[in-house]
Amino acid sequence: MKDIVYLNGEFMPLEDARIPVLDRGFIFGDGVYEVVPVYSRHPFRLAEHLRRLQHSLDGIRLLNPLSDDEWTKLIHDIVARNSGDDQAVYWQVTRGAAKRAHEFPLSVKPTVFMMSNAMTTPPREQVENGVPCITMSDFRWLKCDIKSVSLLGNCLAKQLAVDADALEVVMFRDGYLTEASASNVFVVRDGVLLTPPKNHLVLPGITYDVVIELAEANGIPFEAREVHETELRAAQEVWVTSSTKEVLAVTSLDGRAVGDGKPGPVFRRMHALYQQFKQTVMRRAA
Ligand SMILES: Cc1ncc(COP(=O)(O)O)c(C=O)c1O
Repeated sequence: MKDIVYLNGEFMPLEDARIPVLDRGFIFGDGVYEVVPVYSRHPFRLAEHLRRLQHSLDGIRLLNPLSDDEWTKLIHDIVARNSGDDQAVYWQVTRGAAKRAHEFPLSVKPTVFMMSNAMTTPPREQVENGVPCITMSDFRWLKCDIKSVSLLGNCLAKQLAVDADALEVVMFRDGYLTEASASNVFVVRDGVLLTPPKNHLVLPGITYDVVIELAEANGIPFEAREVHETELRAAQEVWVTSSTKEVLAVTSLDGRAVGDGKPGPVFRRMHALYQQFKQTVMRRAA
């Protein structure tokens, strides 16, 4: 079965999708995107993804070209046209094609592109043994709450991780934890789950919210506050979270063991709670 994508009102095979070279997404990275995980053909937390899309569009002063109902229908359509019950739907809105000039063009139609790929959850080995990460200072811009397609900073960061055989790179700005190249970060210190608050320095992760809700509903002590690098380095547990990674324990940082070098008890509890929660939500949607 061919990959079917959506581009500006039409469904087509991926290889037939074309955009003009003057599209501002191509020229300036002037656009925003979303990725929603789909389990058993049901999008997970779609309302929250649509709310974050609106936040990103507002952040770059671009009108939302579709209503939430239209987005929802489109996502269900693309899922139906592609194979596999578990998919990751990616879509982006750019400011459209116009003569190259930094200022926003007047009355240009935004470009809307959507595709879906097979969704792979982390292999058992990563869940059971944890993953290695490295650290670096966060050199990205100061609007990281916008899910912008301008991901060069994140790509450079991720490549450093790949070069070091690590899964992710945990970043610090002025000595405080921000996030990782494509994940949010949590730490456990003396039984308390900590993560930086949502602000302009981090992407407001959908999984971040799920983890916090699960912690609160299950009596895991939790605080959203600034986390100093020294606290993170001395933490018993460090986790990364994202829609595709779900929750993974970081068991080494820059080659040094985190805690005893194995996924900790709070992680194991949260991982089980997350799987249970996913199943309950999906059963309700079915
Ligand atoms: C920079 C960054 N932070 C955090 C996340 C996690 O967000 P979510 O849980 O919505 O996938 C992502 C996801 O791609 C990301 O790119």
